[in-house]
Amino acid sequence: MPQASVTVRDSRYDVLFEPVQLGPVRAKNRFFQVPHCNGMGYRDPTAQAAMRNVKAEGGWAVVCTEQVEIHPSSDITPFIELRLWDDGDLPALARIADAIHAGGALAGIELAHNGMNSPNLSSREPPLGPAHLPVVTWSNDPVQARMMSASDLADLRRWHRLAVRRALAAGYDVIYVYSGHNLSMLHHFLSRRYNQRTDSYGGSVANRARLLAEVLEDTREECEGRAAVACRLTVDEGIGEAGITPAEAAEVISLLDHLPDVWDLVLGSWELDSATSRFAAEAEREPLIAGLKQLSAKPVVGVGRFTSPDTMVRQVRAGILDMIGAARPSIADPFLPAKIQAGRLDDIRECIGCNICISGDMTMSPIRCTQNPSMGEEWRRRWHPERIRPRESDASVLIVGAGPAGLEAARALGQRGYPVMLAEATRELGGRVPREASLPGLAAWRRVADYRIGQLSRHYRNVDISLQSEITPDDALDHGFTDILVATGARWRTDGVGRWHTSAIRIEDEASVLTPDDLLAGDHPLQQPGAAPQRILVFDDDHYYLGGCWPSCWPGTGMWSGWSPRPRWCRRGPPTPWRSATSSGGYARPGSSWTSAGSWSPPAPGRRGQRARSPARKPACPPTPCCW
Ligand SMILES: Cc1cc2nc3c(=O)[nH]c(=O)nc-3n(C[C@H](O)[C@H](O)[C@H](O)COP(=O)(O)O)c2cc1C
Ligand code: SF4
Repeated sequence: MPQASVTVRDSRYDVLFEPVQLGPVRAKNRFFQVPHCNGMGYRDPTAQAAMRNVKAEGGWAVVCTEQVEIHPSSDITPFIELRLWDDGDLPALARIADAIHAGGALAGIELAHNGMNSPNLSSREPPLGPAHLPVVTWSNDPVQARMMSASDLADLRRWHRLAVRRALAAGYDVIYVYSGHNLSMLHHFLSRRYNQRTDSYGGSVANRARLLAEVLEDTREECEGRAAVACRLTVDEGIGEAGITPAEAAEVISLLDHLPDVWDLVLGSWELDSATSRFAAEAEREPLIAGLKQLSAKPVVGVGRFTSPDTMVRQVRAGILDMIGAARPSIADPFLPAKIQAGRLDDIRECIGCNICISGDMTMSPIRCTQNPSMGEEWRRRWHPERIRPRESDASVLIVGAGPAGLEAARALGQRGYPVMLAEATRELGGRVPREASLPGLAAWRRVADYRIGQLSRHYRNVDISLQSEITPDDALDHGFTDILVATGARWRTDGVGRWHTSAIRIEDEASVLTPDDLLAGDHPLQQPGAAPQRILVFDDDHYYLGGCWPSCWPGTGMWSGWSPRPRWCRRGPPTPWRSATSSGGYARPGSSWTSAGSWSPPAPGRRGQRARSPARKPACPPTPCCW
């Protein structure tokens, strides 16, 4: 771990280290790692135990599991979460609770019946919900939920009670009742979007909250003062009157405040709650949450990609939250509380809000994080976010290229104690990072470079950095290093070859083709700002974030259109009229091959693409090249 010059926390942050009473248990400070999935679940509980142990070691007062399926009728296959279907699941759950306790934190478990989010593909149980409606899953499974009868409702309460008993047996201190994110039965009952019942569980807010009240009562009774009861509640579905609104959430909190020991307030659907930094800044939801705490006598946890201790303090002092909830900030830096405690603010590895961590859950693979390479490898490789194996040989290392990979390699080798030379051809460290971070909404991504540059400059004198040093293979060999790492990155192709187009695309001779590299270097598709309108095609065969960024660079031009060889469904597009979740493998101005705005005829066969540089090249003007 880097040695800090200051080792005492700033008194401004004292409030963050005050204990908070959660019903029968006491949290040692205000840092609360809220439930988050990790792609490990029932398949890799030992790996998850190691990951949660590191979080606990990092100073979080409460460390939670992800949502835990309580019954086979809540089977969200293909996703891999924890399960508490029966006693057979107890050893895995207990191992995780033990690991959290060993790290010094309270262990929280989020019991979930996923309701209409459960297609039950593995268990083959009939899906259940408040109404006869198709299940609400990302893969649009062709199955229908059955409207729950009185006996179904009684079953659900019984299953939840059994899960509470098992969670207590496994050693958990905080037991969640989950009514959030459009992922839980209790949320589905609360939301007018799904609850079309005319019985005592439908209609008014009090009726729609009846099942939530009953499950909370049951949970409280089962816990009998042995564990805190937490309620995770969606306070805004973001669809106005069609779903849960902040006013309705306020009514629920007022009605049910006597039942949980702690409220955990979220937005939801999940995409809204875990919005990327491109669409939501730190604490952006504050206007929706502010005031709800005043309706409650219980502590309130809230989230908002909190990485700044000053923002955290303001949340507490302004009476918005009692505890600082964090999923992503705890993934990017499991030692966030410990670093604030030790006055090591410069060492915080801030989450960039890219949501690569969520892709672990979505691909059913162990979680990974852009900022924290150790995330998900705590058990398999014994990686730790703060500690690393010390130097074991006399090796000396030349790293060619100071993009994100080169910087991280230099940082890690520097921490291990090896002599390192980091050679960069340009005058700037960070490679693609500073350039991409200058695109609209991506400023937080700069933290990938900033964190590493900061660590190198403050802690590792054994790493020499040499800018404007283009290294040839002969140079590299001549310098006498025992090891050479090449981290020179890649450039975008101009011929349209990508994921689905595996051979060059024919492009009209007069068309100019610009790649993301050209655009980020300052080339402008319209040649000059204010030039005569031309039609623009964003050709995207990459399918990630970059394609969707370009239209935001030319707001209001109305002259471009997105085209992807294989359209993908998108949950939330860029804040422009163009909605696509795709990303760019190239950018083309096809000229005469356009037929009308928004439609594109493939050009005549037999011509190879060419790239024409704009004659009037406007220099990139950081931080916002979108001011082209
Ligand atoms: C990878 C990942 C997995 C998540 N899984 C869950 C989950 O299982 N249950 C849940 O209630 N929330 C889940 N969430 C939502 C978070 O708990 C949190 O409410 C949200 O990410 C906003 O907080 P943050 O800005 O601190 O990340 C998940 C979030 C992430 C990033
Ligand atoms: S940096 Fe990206 S991957 Fe890591 S926690 Fe933040 S959003 Fe997730």
